[in-house]
Amino acid sequence: MILIRELEIPSSVGAEGWDDFVAAMGIHYGNEALTYGTDELAFTAAETLPEYLDEEHQPTRLFVARDETRIVGAARYEAEPGDDPTTAWLMVDVLPGARRRGVGSALSAKLQGVAATDGIRKAIVYAVSGYGPGERLPAPTGFGSVPRDNAEVAFLLGKGYRLEQVVRGSRLALPVDVTTQFDETVLAAGPDFALHHWVDVTPKKWRVEMAALRQLMSTEEPGAGLDEPEDIWTVERLVEDEERRASSPRTRLVAAVEHLPSGRLAGFTVLSVPAETDRAISQEDTLVRREHRGHRLGMLLKLANLAEVQRWMPGHPAVLTFNAEENRHMLDVNEAVGFVPIGYEGAWRKDLPT
Ligand SMILES: CC(C)(COP(=O)(O)OP(=O)(O)OC[C@H]1O[C@@H](n2cnc3c(N)ncnc32)[C@H](O)[C@@H]1OP(=O)(O)O)[C@@H](O)C(=O)NCCC(=O)NCCS
Repeated sequence: MILIRELEIPSSVGAEGWDDFVAAMGIHYGNEALTYGTDELAFTAAETLPEYLDEEHQPTRLFVARDETRIVGAARYEAEPGDDPTTAWLMVDVLPGARRRGVGSALSAKLQGVAATDGIRKAIVYAVSGYGPGERLPAPTGFGSVPRDNAEVAFLLGKGYRLEQVVRGSRLALPVDVTTQFDETVLAAGPDFALHHWVDVTPKKWRVEMAALRQLMSTEEPGAGLDEPEDIWTVERLVEDEERRASSPRTRLVAAVEHLPSGRLAGFTVLSVPAETDRAISQEDTLVRREHRGHRLGMLLKLANLAEVQRWMPGHPAVLTFNAEENRHMLDVNEAVGFVPIGYEGAWRKDLPT
């Protein structure tokens, strides 16, 4: 018999509910590792916890399915913040040994019920799709496809989702010498731009600018037909977010570029670095404001941060990054630095009855 229940999110590492939280994260990252063929992408439960604690801006609920002996499936529900959310991001994971017994469907139905109660009109799922033989399902963007017979593809199609976008996961092996490329890019960018670096906490001077850039990030990334809502950032949210993340064992290394004539930030990029040097670094947001594009600032930011991370936190095996398959500009930058594709994810959408 399968029982589904909501998990209480532990308030801190080791607090009540911690073991179940660890089990749920283990199923998700275990599945991801199986599909990508590497466990380099995995975050530990302690690293993931801060994401679950931002009730105001990232209201997230976690459900688990348990059989007679153990937790066999986990499902995540994240609603758009605010009083009247219309979008929710969903994820269902089932242990490989417990599949094709209806666990995924039961968890999916649970999430669907929660979404209906919240008045959600659009559900979005990001699902990793490993190699699979046979027919491909192309993304409507014209870039990328997923194997139609894969479990997650058949499952999502069966639940009424449609594929909107394919996202590429890429890996850059470290160490990498970026000196020549960096010098060339500094010259190409010209004298109007200056780089700044910080760790974890945005300097007071840049808080307003960074809040604006974080907000832009939610609308400037190619969103295909997902139509994801704008994520509102204020200085208060930025400060709170950085305080909350201080409990994570990861370090965030930020590179930002200032447009000197205006004194404003033209863009930024973030690397999330695990404490253990044998684990891979995650590339997080990268953004250049529209009005400053065409000066190779995306490349400048990436190269600058790669140089910084290798100088101050050497020894990590790789950097991992995710980009929409149609985001040719960002892929060009990454490929020029040396990133190679390691796998693909489908971004799926389902419109829910109101
Ligand atoms: C996708 C996933 C959640 C399905 O979990 P599950 O417990 O096996 O799902 P169910 O038993 O409820 O299957 C429901 C239906 O999905 C389809 N399906 C599931 N796995 C399939 C497979 N390997 N091949 C073809 N169809 C499959 C079938 O139509 C199935 O119905 P059926 O068994 O009556 O034929 C599971 O494979 C998984 O955890 N994958 C990794 C995580 C992931 O990609 N999640 C994305 C979905 S949010």
